[in-house]
Amino acid sequence: MAFNYISAAEAASLIKHGYNIGLSGFTPAGTAKAVTAELAKIAEAEHAKGNPFQVGIFTGASTGDSCDGVLSRAKAIRYRAPYTTNADFRKAVNNGEIAYNDIHLSQMAQEVRYGFLGKVNVAILEACEVTPDGKIYLTAAGGISPTIARLADFIIVELNAAHSKAAMGLHDVYEPLDPPYRREIPIYTPSDRIGLPYVQVDPKKIVGIVETNWPDEARAFSEADPLTDKIGQNVADFLVHEMKAGRIPASFLPLQSGVGNIANAVLGALGHDKTIPAFNVYTEVIQNAVIGLIRDGRVKFASGCSLTVTNDCLNEVYNDMDFFRDKLVLRPSEISNSPEIVRRLGIISINTAIEADLYGNVNSTHIGGTKMMNGIGGSGDFTRNAYISIFTCPSVAKGGKISAIVPMVAHEDHSEHDVKIIITEQGVADLRGKSPKERAQTIIENCVHPDYKNILWDYLKLTDGKSQTPHNIRAALALHAELAQSGDMRNIDWGQYK
Ligand code: COA
Repeated sequence: MAFNYISAAEAASLIKHGYNIGLSGFTPAGTAKAVTAELAKIAEAEHAKGNPFQVGIFTGASTGDSCDGVLSRAKAIRYRAPYTTNADFRKAVNNGEIAYNDIHLSQMAQEVRYGFLGKVNVAILEACEVTPDGKIYLTAAGGISPTIARLADFIIVELNAAHSKAAMGLHDVYEPLDPPYRREIPIYTPSDRIGLPYVQVDPKKIVGIVETNWPDEARAFSEADPLTDKIGQNVADFLVHEMKAGRIPASFLPLQSGVGNIANAVLGALGHDKTIPAFNVYTEVIQNAVIGLIRDGRVKFASGCSLTVTNDCLNEVYNDMDFFRDKLVLRPSEISNSPEIVRRLGIISINTAIEADLYGNVNSTHIGGTKMMNGIGGSGDFTRNAYISIFTCPSVAKGGKISAIVPMVAHEDHSEHDVKIIITEQGVADLRGKSPKERAQTIIENCVHPDYKNILWDYLKLTDGKSQTPHNIRAALALHAELAQSGDMRNIDWGQYK
Protein backbone atom coordinates (compact mmCIF):
# COMPACT_ATOMS: atom_id res chain seq x y z
CA MET A 1 0.00 0.00 0.00
CA ALA A 2 1.29 3.50 -0.84
CA PHE A 3 1.29 5.76 2.18
CA ASN A 4 0.24 9.36 2.36
CA TYR A 5 3.22 11.51 3.36
CA ILE A 6 1.97 14.60 5.23
CA SER A 7 3.40 17.41 7.30
CA ALA A 8 3.23 17.42 11.10
CA ALA A 9 0.77 20.34 10.89
CA GLU A 10 -1.49 18.40 8.52
CA ALA A 11 -1.37 15.41 10.82
CA ALA A 12 -2.19 17.57 13.85
CA SER A 13 -5.18 19.04 12.03
CA LEU A 14 -6.74 15.55 12.00
CA ILE A 15 -6.95 15.65 15.80
CA LYS A 16 -10.14 17.17 17.19
CA HIS A 17 -11.06 18.70 20.52
CA GLY A 18 -12.00 15.93 22.96
CA TYR A 19 -9.92 13.21 21.29
CA ASN A 20 -7.82 10.78 23.29
CA ILE A 21 -4.35 10.43 21.81
CA GLY A 22 -2.20 7.36 22.38
CA LEU A 23 1.52 7.98 22.06
CA SER A 24 4.48 5.69 21.48
CA GLY A 25 7.46 6.01 23.74
CA PHE A 26 8.43 5.60 27.34
CA THR A 27 10.18 8.57 28.97
CA PRO A 28 11.32 10.96 26.20
CA ALA A 29 12.77 7.88 24.49
CA GLY A 30 10.80 6.85 21.43
CA THR A 31 8.01 9.34 22.03
CA ALA A 32 6.35 10.89 19.00
CA LYS A 33 7.23 14.61 19.01
CA ALA A 34 6.41 16.57 15.87
CA VAL A 35 2.61 16.16 15.77
CA THR A 36 2.04 17.07 19.43
CA ALA A 37 4.26 20.15 18.98
CA GLU A 38 1.97 21.26 16.11
CA LEU A 39 -1.13 20.33 18.08
CA ALA A 40 -0.15 22.85 20.77
CA LYS A 41 -0.21 25.59 18.11
CA ILE A 42 -3.70 24.54 17.01
CA ALA A 43 -4.89 24.58 20.62
CA GLU A 44 -3.48 28.09 21.15
CA ALA A 45 -5.16 29.34 17.95
CA GLU A 46 -8.51 27.82 18.96
CA HIS A 47 -8.25 29.25 22.47
CA ALA A 48 -7.49 32.69 20.97
CA LYS A 49 -10.76 32.40 19.04
CA GLY A 50 -12.56 31.53 22.26
CA ASN A 51 -13.04 27.85 21.33
CA PRO A 52 -12.32 24.97 23.66
CA PHE A 53 -9.50 22.64 22.59
CA GLN A 54 -8.23 19.93 24.88
CA VAL A 55 -7.24 16.32 24.43
CA GLY A 56 -6.56 13.27 26.57
CA ILE A 57 -3.05 11.80 26.48
CA PHE A 58 -2.32 8.10 26.98
CA THR A 59 1.40 7.23 27.06
CA GLY A 60 3.81 4.58 28.25
CA ALA A 61 5.45 6.90 30.78
CA SER A 62 6.83 10.44 30.72
CA THR A 63 7.43 12.27 27.43
CA GLY A 64 9.61 15.18 26.39
CA ASP A 65 8.90 18.88 26.21
CA SER A 66 7.37 18.51 22.72
CA CYS A 67 4.43 16.71 24.30
CA ASP A 68 3.83 17.34 28.01
CA GLY A 69 5.68 20.67 27.98
CA VAL A 70 4.14 22.43 24.98
CA LEU A 71 0.69 20.93 25.46
CA SER A 72 0.44 21.85 29.13
CA ARG A 73 1.70 25.39 28.45
CA ALA A 74 -0.96 25.63 25.71
CA LYS A 75 -3.56 24.39 28.23
CA ALA A 76 -4.38 21.65 25.73
CA ILE A 77 -4.42 18.64 28.08
CA ARG A 78 -7.69 17.71 29.76
CA TYR A 79 -6.63 14.28 31.00
CA ARG A 80 -3.38 12.36 31.11
CA ALA A 81 -2.12 8.98 32.28
CA PRO A 82 0.35 7.72 33.48
CA TYR A 83 3.80 9.00 34.77
CA THR A 84 5.29 12.33 33.74
CA THR A 85 8.33 14.36 34.73
CA ASN A 86 7.74 17.67 32.95
CA ALA A 87 7.99 20.76 35.19
CA ASP A 88 5.26 22.75 33.37
CA PHE A 89 2.95 19.76 33.40
CA ARG A 90 3.63 19.34 37.13
CA LYS A 91 2.78 23.01 37.73
CA ALA A 92 -0.48 22.67 35.78
CA VAL A 93 -1.46 19.49 37.66
CA ASN A 94 -0.80 21.08 41.03
CA ASN A 95 -2.80 24.13 39.90
CA GLY A 96 -5.81 21.92 39.28
CA GLU A 97 -5.72 22.43 35.49
CA ILE A 98 -5.22 18.82 34.37
CA ALA A 99 -6.88 15.57 35.43
CA TYR A 100 -3.84 13.37 36.01
CA ASN A 101 -4.30 9.65 36.64
CA ASP A 102 -1.12 8.22 38.11
CA ILE A 103 -1.44 4.49 37.52
CA HIS A 104 1.08 1.66 37.66
CA LEU A 105 2.91 1.54 34.33
CA SER A 106 2.37 -2.20 33.90
CA GLN A 107 -1.37 -1.58 34.05
CA MET A 108 -1.63 1.23 31.51
CA ALA A 109 -2.04 -0.85 28.35
CA GLN A 110 -4.49 -3.26 29.92
CA GLU A 111 -6.61 -0.49 31.44
CA VAL A 112 -6.88 1.03 27.96
CA ARG A 113 -7.83 -2.39 26.55
CA TYR A 114 -10.38 -3.01 29.30
CA GLY A 115 -12.04 0.27 28.31
CA PHE A 116 -11.41 1.89 31.71
CA LEU A 117 -9.94 5.08 30.22
CA GLY A 118 -12.22 5.63 27.24
CA LYS A 119 -11.68 5.37 23.53
CA VAL A 120 -8.34 5.82 21.76
CA ASN A 121 -9.13 8.06 18.79
CA VAL A 122 -5.65 8.28 17.34
CA ALA A 123 -2.31 6.62 17.91
CA ILE A 124 0.89 8.49 17.05
CA LEU A 125 3.83 6.13 16.78
CA GLU A 126 7.45 7.04 16.24
CA ALA A 127 9.16 4.57 13.91
CA CYS A 128 12.50 4.01 12.27
CA GLU A 129 10.81 2.07 9.47
CA VAL A 130 7.31 1.27 8.26
CA THR A 131 6.49 -1.24 5.53
CA PRO A 132 3.59 -1.19 3.05
CA ASP A 133 2.02 -4.23 4.76
CA GLY A 134 1.79 -2.35 8.08
CA LYS A 135 4.87 -3.39 10.00
CA ILE A 136 5.88 -0.50 12.25
CA TYR A 137 9.42 -0.75 13.62
CA LEU A 138 9.59 1.25 16.85
CA THR A 139 12.56 3.35 17.93
CA ALA A 140 13.97 3.61 21.47
CA ALA A 141 10.97 2.37 23.51
CA GLY A 142 8.18 -0.20 23.62
CA GLY A 143 5.65 1.64 25.82
CA ILE A 144 2.00 0.95 25.04
CA SER A 145 2.44 1.09 21.25
CA PRO A 146 0.98 -2.29 20.26
CA THR A 147 -2.19 -1.68 22.26
CA ILE A 148 -2.91 1.86 21.14
CA ALA A 149 -2.09 0.99 17.53
CA ARG A 150 -4.62 -1.84 17.61
CA LEU A 151 -7.36 0.11 19.37
CA ALA A 152 -7.05 3.51 17.70
CA ASP A 153 -9.44 4.58 14.96
CA PHE A 154 -6.47 5.81 12.96
CA ILE A 155 -2.69 5.92 13.17
CA ILE A 156 -0.12 8.60 12.40
CA VAL A 157 3.49 7.45 12.05
CA GLU A 158 6.38 9.80 12.74
CA LEU A 159 9.18 8.31 10.68
CA ASN A 160 12.16 9.76 12.51
CA ALA A 161 15.51 9.75 10.70
CA ALA A 162 17.26 10.65 13.97
CA HIS A 163 16.77 7.01 14.95
CA SER A 164 18.88 4.61 12.95
CA LYS A 165 17.22 1.74 11.14
CA ALA A 166 19.63 -0.36 13.19
CA ALA A 167 16.90 -0.22 15.85
CA MET A 168 15.01 -2.79 13.73
CA GLY A 169 15.19 -6.05 15.62
CA LEU A 170 15.75 -4.44 19.01
CA HIS A 171 12.12 -4.92 20.03
CA ASP A 172 10.16 -7.93 21.18
CA VAL A 173 6.53 -6.91 20.74
CA TYR A 174 4.01 -9.04 22.62
CA GLU A 175 0.52 -8.26 23.84
CA PRO A 176 -1.17 -10.64 26.27
CA LEU A 177 -4.78 -11.73 25.91
CA ASP A 178 -7.27 -10.30 28.36
CA PRO A 179 -9.03 -12.35 31.05
CA PRO A 180 -10.59 -14.88 30.94
CA TYR A 181 -8.27 -15.93 28.11
CA ARG A 182 -4.94 -14.69 29.51
CA ARG A 183 -2.19 -17.31 29.71
CA GLU A 184 1.24 -17.12 31.28
CA ILE A 185 3.67 -14.69 29.67
CA PRO A 186 6.37 -17.18 28.63
CA ILE A 187 9.49 -15.33 29.75
CA TYR A 188 11.70 -17.52 31.92
CA THR A 189 14.99 -15.68 31.60
CA PRO A 190 15.57 -11.95 30.88
CA SER A 191 16.80 -12.69 27.34
CA ASP A 192 13.77 -14.72 26.20
CA ARG A 193 12.05 -13.33 23.12
CA ILE A 194 8.36 -14.17 22.79
CA GLY A 195 6.95 -11.79 20.17
CA LEU A 196 7.65 -9.92 16.95
CA PRO A 197 10.29 -7.28 16.18
CA TYR A 198 7.59 -4.87 14.96
CA VAL A 199 4.05 -3.70 15.67
CA GLN A 200 1.70 -5.16 13.05
CA VAL A 201 -1.17 -2.88 12.11
CA ASP A 202 -3.74 -2.76 9.37
CA PRO A 203 -1.96 -0.45 6.89
CA LYS A 204 -5.32 1.12 5.97
CA LYS A 205 -5.42 2.65 9.45
CA ILE A 206 -2.24 4.65 8.79
CA VAL A 207 -3.64 7.98 7.61
CA GLY A 208 -0.31 9.68 7.20
CA ILE A 209 3.42 9.41 7.61
CA VAL A 210 5.24 12.42 8.96
CA GLU A 211 8.95 12.44 8.18
CA THR A 212 11.05 13.99 10.93
CA ASN A 213 14.63 14.22 12.07
CA TRP A 214 14.18 14.94 15.76
CA PRO A 215 16.50 13.38 18.37
CA ASP A 216 14.99 12.12 21.62
CA GLU A 217 14.66 14.88 24.18
CA ALA A 218 16.96 13.05 26.54
CA ARG A 219 17.89 14.50 29.90
CA ALA A 220 21.53 14.57 30.90
CA PHE A 221 22.70 12.79 34.02
CA SER A 222 24.40 14.85 36.71
CA GLU A 223 28.02 14.13 37.44
CA ALA A 224 28.41 11.48 40.11
CA ASP A 225 28.65 13.11 43.54
CA PRO A 226 29.85 11.74 46.89
CA LEU A 227 26.28 11.39 48.19
CA THR A 228 24.89 9.31 45.34
CA ASP A 229 28.16 7.35 45.21
CA LYS A 230 27.82 6.51 48.91
CA ILE A 231 24.22 5.36 48.45
CA GLY A 232 25.30 3.28 45.46
CA GLN A 233 28.13 1.73 47.46
CA ASN A 234 25.78 0.93 50.37
CA VAL A 235 23.46 -0.90 47.94
CA ALA A 236 26.36 -2.83 46.41
CA ASP A 237 27.75 -3.76 49.87
CA PHE A 238 24.32 -4.92 51.00
CA LEU A 239 23.86 -7.15 47.95
CA VAL A 240 27.35 -8.65 48.32
CA HIS A 241 26.59 -9.38 51.95
CA GLU A 242 23.32 -11.09 51.00
CA MET A 243 25.05 -13.17 48.36
CA LYS A 244 27.76 -14.26 50.80
CA ALA A 245 25.08 -15.15 53.34
CA GLY A 246 23.41 -17.37 50.73
CA ARG A 247 20.18 -15.39 50.62
CA ILE A 248 20.88 -14.39 47.01
CA PRO A 249 22.07 -17.23 44.74
CA ALA A 250 25.79 -17.13 43.87
CA SER A 251 24.84 -16.74 40.19
CA PHE A 252 22.98 -13.58 41.29
CA LEU A 253 19.48 -12.43 40.28
CA PRO A 254 18.27 -9.91 37.69
CA LEU A 255 18.16 -6.29 38.79
CA GLN A 256 15.62 -3.57 38.24
CA SER A 257 16.81 -0.08 38.90
CA GLY A 258 14.67 3.05 38.85
CA VAL A 259 15.15 6.38 37.15
CA GLY A 260 17.57 9.22 37.81
CA ASN A 261 21.01 9.84 39.20
CA ILE A 262 20.84 7.62 42.27
CA ALA A 263 19.74 4.69 40.11
CA ASN A 264 22.59 5.38 37.72
CA ALA A 265 25.09 5.55 40.62
CA VAL A 266 23.75 2.32 42.15
CA LEU A 267 24.28 0.45 38.91
CA GLY A 268 27.72 1.97 38.54
CA ALA A 269 28.70 0.75 42.02
CA LEU A 270 27.31 -2.73 41.38
CA GLY A 271 29.19 -2.89 38.13
CA HIS A 272 32.48 -1.98 39.74
CA ASP A 273 32.12 -4.46 42.59
CA LYS A 274 33.72 -7.55 41.12
CA THR A 275 32.58 -9.75 44.03
CA ILE A 276 29.19 -9.63 42.31
CA PRO A 277 29.27 -11.85 39.22
CA ALA A 278 28.25 -10.40 35.84
CA PHE A 279 24.48 -10.06 36.11
CA ASN A 280 21.30 -9.56 34.08
CA VAL A 281 19.06 -6.53 34.13
CA TYR A 282 15.27 -6.85 33.82
CA THR A 283 14.04 -3.33 34.23
CA GLU A 284 11.89 -0.61 32.72
CA VAL A 285 14.38 2.13 31.79
CA ILE A 286 17.84 1.20 30.59
CA GLN A 287 20.06 4.15 31.51
CA ASN A 288 23.60 5.05 30.48
CA ALA A 289 25.27 3.05 33.25
CA VAL A 290 23.82 -0.21 31.93
CA ILE A 291 25.18 0.38 28.45
CA GLY A 292 28.66 0.96 29.90
CA LEU A 293 28.36 -2.19 31.99
CA ILE A 294 27.35 -4.25 28.94
CA ARG A 295 30.47 -2.95 27.21
CA ASP A 296 32.57 -3.94 30.24
CA GLY A 297 31.04 -7.42 30.36
CA ARG A 298 29.56 -6.70 33.81
CA VAL A 299 25.96 -6.84 32.54
CA LYS A 300 25.33 -9.95 30.48
CA PHE A 301 21.90 -8.97 29.16
CA ALA A 302 19.51 -6.06 29.63
CA SER A 303 15.77 -6.29 29.06
CA GLY A 304 13.87 -3.03 29.35
CA CYS A 305 11.10 -0.91 27.96
CA SER A 306 13.24 2.00 26.81
CA LEU A 307 16.74 3.17 26.10
CA THR A 308 16.50 6.25 28.32
CA VAL A 309 20.05 7.27 27.59
CA THR A 310 21.75 10.41 26.36
CA ASN A 311 21.71 10.80 22.58
CA ASP A 312 25.46 10.14 22.38
CA CYS A 313 24.93 6.87 24.17
CA LEU A 314 21.95 5.95 21.96
CA ASN A 315 23.99 6.54 18.82
CA GLU A 316 26.79 4.47 20.28
CA VAL A 317 24.33 1.59 20.62
CA TYR A 318 22.90 2.09 17.11
CA ASN A 319 26.39 2.28 15.61
CA ASP A 320 27.44 -0.96 17.23
CA MET A 321 24.35 -3.09 16.89
CA ASP A 322 26.42 -6.13 15.95
CA PHE A 323 27.78 -6.03 19.49
CA PHE A 324 24.56 -5.06 21.29
CA ARG A 325 21.97 -7.08 19.37
CA ASP A 326 22.19 -10.22 21.49
CA LYS A 327 22.60 -8.26 24.73
CA LEU A 328 19.59 -5.94 24.65
CA VAL A 329 15.85 -6.19 24.14
CA LEU A 330 13.05 -3.61 24.39
CA ARG A 331 9.55 -4.69 25.36
CA PRO A 332 6.12 -3.12 25.82
CA SER A 333 5.72 -1.74 29.35
CA GLU A 334 3.17 -4.34 30.39
CA ILE A 335 5.84 -6.98 29.75
CA SER A 336 8.92 -5.12 31.03
CA ASN A 337 7.01 -4.34 34.24
CA SER A 338 4.85 -7.44 34.45
CA PRO A 339 4.30 -8.46 38.08
CA GLU A 340 4.07 -12.08 36.91
CA ILE A 341 7.56 -11.97 35.41
CA VAL A 342 9.05 -9.92 38.25
CA ARG A 343 7.91 -12.58 40.71
CA ARG A 344 9.01 -15.48 38.49
CA LEU A 345 12.51 -14.16 37.75
CA GLY A 346 13.15 -13.11 41.35
CA ILE A 347 14.05 -9.57 40.49
CA ILE A 348 15.87 -7.38 42.99
CA SER A 349 14.19 -3.98 42.72
CA ILE A 350 15.91 -0.70 43.55
CA ASN A 351 13.81 2.47 43.49
CA THR A 352 14.00 5.96 44.95
CA ALA A 353 11.76 7.33 47.70
CA ILE A 354 10.82 10.92 48.40
CA GLU A 355 10.30 9.93 52.02
CA ALA A 356 9.91 6.81 54.12
CA ASP A 357 8.43 6.43 57.56
CA LEU A 358 9.55 4.69 60.71
CA TYR A 359 7.56 1.57 59.86
CA GLY A 360 8.68 1.17 56.22
CA ASN A 361 5.90 2.91 54.30
CA VAL A 362 7.21 4.88 51.33
CA ASN A 363 6.05 8.01 49.54
CA SER A 364 7.42 8.17 45.98
CA THR A 365 5.10 10.72 44.48
CA HIS A 366 3.81 13.58 46.64
CA ILE A 367 5.77 16.49 48.09
CA GLY A 368 4.30 17.44 51.44
CA GLY A 369 1.54 14.89 50.90
CA THR A 370 -0.39 16.99 48.38
CA LYS A 371 1.74 18.16 45.46
CA MET A 372 2.48 15.69 42.68
CA MET A 373 6.17 15.27 41.89
CA ASN A 374 6.26 12.79 38.96
CA GLY A 375 4.23 9.71 39.67
CA ILE A 376 4.60 6.12 40.82
CA GLY A 377 6.07 4.96 37.53
CA GLY A 378 6.95 1.29 37.62
CA SER A 379 8.12 1.33 41.20
CA GLY A 380 4.95 -0.40 42.43
CA ASP A 381 5.04 -3.03 39.68
CA PHE A 382 8.48 -4.11 40.83
CA THR A 383 8.40 -3.44 44.56
CA ARG A 384 5.45 -5.61 45.53
CA ASN A 385 6.65 -8.54 43.44
CA ALA A 386 10.40 -8.34 43.96
CA TYR A 387 12.64 -11.00 45.49
CA ILE A 388 14.05 -8.17 47.60
CA SER A 389 12.65 -4.64 47.25
CA ILE A 390 15.03 -1.79 48.06
CA PHE A 391 14.31 1.92 48.41
CA THR A 392 17.11 4.45 48.37
CA CYS A 393 17.15 8.17 49.13
CA PRO A 394 19.42 10.78 50.68
CA SER A 395 18.65 10.97 54.43
CA VAL A 396 17.90 14.69 54.14
CA ALA A 397 16.69 17.07 51.42
CA LYS A 398 17.03 20.84 50.89
CA GLY A 399 20.31 21.18 52.74
CA GLY A 400 19.07 19.35 55.83
CA LYS A 401 15.80 21.21 56.33
CA ILE A 402 13.85 18.07 55.46
CA SER A 403 14.33 14.59 56.88
CA ALA A 404 13.53 11.86 54.37
CA ILE A 405 12.65 9.63 57.31
CA VAL A 406 9.51 10.89 59.03
CA PRO A 407 7.16 9.47 61.67
CA MET A 408 4.38 8.90 59.11
CA VAL A 409 4.56 9.41 55.35
CA ALA A 410 2.28 12.21 54.16
CA HIS A 411 1.24 10.09 51.17
CA GLU A 412 1.70 6.37 50.72
CA ASP A 413 2.68 4.58 47.51
CA HIS A 414 4.47 1.49 48.86
CA SER A 415 3.29 -0.05 52.07
CA GLU A 416 5.18 -1.63 54.96
CA HIS A 417 4.14 -5.00 53.52
CA ASP A 418 6.13 -4.45 50.34
CA VAL A 419 9.21 -2.45 51.37
CA LYS A 420 12.03 -4.72 52.54
CA ILE A 421 15.18 -2.58 52.62
CA ILE A 422 15.76 1.17 53.03
CA ILE A 423 19.17 2.58 52.16
CA THR A 424 20.44 6.12 52.64
CA GLU A 425 24.00 7.44 52.62
CA GLN A 426 23.95 6.77 56.39
CA GLY A 427 23.45 3.03 56.00
CA VAL A 428 21.09 0.12 55.47
CA ALA A 429 17.88 -0.74 57.34
CA ASP A 430 16.91 -4.35 56.77
CA LEU A 431 13.20 -4.59 57.51
CA ARG A 432 12.78 -8.24 56.53
CA GLY A 433 11.24 -10.43 59.18
CA LYS A 434 10.78 -7.52 61.60
CA SER A 435 7.71 -6.24 63.39
CA PRO A 436 6.83 -2.54 62.97
CA LYS A 437 8.40 -1.62 66.34
CA GLU A 438 11.61 -3.45 65.42
CA ARG A 439 11.62 -1.70 62.04
CA ALA A 440 11.44 1.73 63.66
CA GLN A 441 14.55 0.96 65.74
CA THR A 442 16.60 -0.24 62.79
CA ILE A 443 15.52 2.63 60.54
CA ILE A 444 16.48 5.27 63.10
CA GLU A 445 19.75 3.56 63.97
CA ASN A 446 20.88 2.98 60.38
CA CYS A 447 19.26 5.43 57.96
CA VAL A 448 18.37 8.66 59.73
CA HIS A 449 20.64 11.71 59.49
CA PRO A 450 22.37 12.55 62.83
CA ASP A 451 20.42 15.87 63.00
CA TYR A 452 17.15 13.94 63.14
CA LYS A 453 17.96 10.87 65.25
CA ASN A 454 16.94 12.40 68.57
CA ILE A 455 13.93 14.09 66.98
CA LEU A 456 12.64 10.68 65.87
CA TRP A 457 13.55 8.87 69.12
CA ASP A 458 11.62 11.66 70.91
CA TYR A 459 8.65 11.15 68.58
CA LEU A 460 8.47 7.50 69.60
CA LYS A 461 8.33 8.59 73.26
CA LEU A 462 5.10 10.43 72.43
CA THR A 463 3.43 7.14 71.45
CA ASP A 464 2.14 4.40 73.74
CA GLY A 465 5.12 2.33 72.55
CA LYS A 466 2.99 -0.80 72.71
CA SER A 467 0.47 -0.80 69.87
CA GLN A 468 1.23 -2.85 66.78
CA THR A 469 2.23 0.38 64.99
CA PRO A 470 2.79 3.04 67.66
CA HIS A 471 1.82 6.53 66.61
CA ASN A 472 0.82 9.75 68.25
CA ILE A 473 -1.84 10.66 65.73
CA ARG A 474 -1.74 14.38 66.53
CA ALA A 475 2.03 14.50 66.08
CA ALA A 476 2.42 12.02 63.23
CA LEU A 477 2.57 14.73 60.54
CA ALA A 478 4.02 17.43 62.78
CA LEU A 479 7.40 17.46 61.00
CA HIS A 480 5.60 18.22 57.73
CA ALA A 481 3.57 20.93 59.46
CA GLU A 482 6.75 22.39 60.96
CA LEU A 483 8.36 22.47 57.51
CA ALA A 484 5.36 24.26 56.07
CA GLN A 485 5.39 26.78 58.92
CA SER A 486 9.06 27.52 59.64
CA GLY A 487 10.79 26.00 56.61
CA ASP A 488 12.89 23.59 58.68
CA MET A 489 11.81 20.32 60.27
CA ARG A 490 14.61 20.66 62.84
CA ASN A 491 12.62 23.44 64.56
CA ILE A 492 10.05 20.94 65.81
CA ASP A 493 9.08 21.28 69.47
CA TRP A 494 7.38 18.09 70.62
CA GLY A 495 6.35 19.73 73.91
CA GLN A 496 2.87 20.61 72.67
CA TYR A 497 2.11 16.94 71.89
CA LYS A 498 3.02 15.49 75.29
N1 COA B 1 10.34 16.61 50.74
C1 COA B 1 10.35 17.65 49.87
N2 COA B 1 11.13 17.66 48.76
C2 COA B 1 11.93 16.61 48.55
C3 COA B 1 11.99 15.52 49.42
C4 COA B 1 11.15 15.55 50.56
N3 COA B 1 11.15 14.54 51.42
N4 COA B 1 12.88 14.63 48.94
C5 COA B 1 13.35 15.13 47.79
N5 COA B 1 12.78 16.33 47.57
C6 COA B 1 13.02 17.21 46.42
C7 COA B 1 14.50 17.41 46.16
O1 COA B 1 15.01 18.44 46.97
C8 COA B 1 14.48 17.77 44.69
O2 COA B 1 14.04 19.10 44.57
P1 COA B 1 14.59 20.06 43.42
O3 COA B 1 14.07 19.45 42.14
O4 COA B 1 13.95 21.37 43.74
O5 COA B 1 16.07 20.03 43.55
C9 COA B 1 13.37 16.88 44.13
O6 COA B 1 12.54 16.54 45.26
C10 COA B 1 13.89 15.60 43.48
O7 COA B 1 14.74 14.97 44.38
P2 COA B 1 16.12 14.29 43.95
O8 COA B 1 16.88 13.97 45.21
O9 COA B 1 16.80 15.11 42.92
O10 COA B 1 15.61 12.93 43.44
P3 COA B 1 15.48 12.18 42.06
O11 COA B 1 15.68 13.03 40.87
O12 COA B 1 16.30 10.97 42.24
O13 COA B 1 13.92 11.79 42.09
C11 COA B 1 11.92 10.77 42.83
C12 COA B 1 13.37 11.14 43.18
C13 COA B 1 11.37 9.94 43.98
C14 COA B 1 11.10 12.02 42.63
C15 COA B 1 11.96 9.93 41.48
O14 COA B 1 12.82 8.83 41.64
C16 COA B 1 10.59 9.44 41.11
O15 COA B 1 9.81 10.15 40.49
N6 COA B 1 10.26 8.19 41.52
C17 COA B 1 8.96 7.61 41.31
C18 COA B 1 8.91 6.77 40.09
C19 COA B 1 9.86 5.62 40.10
O16 COA B 1 10.25 5.13 41.14
N7 COA B 1 10.23 5.17 38.93
C20 COA B 1 11.14 4.10 38.75
C21 COA B 1 10.41 2.84 38.55
S1 COA B 1 11.23 1.73 37.48
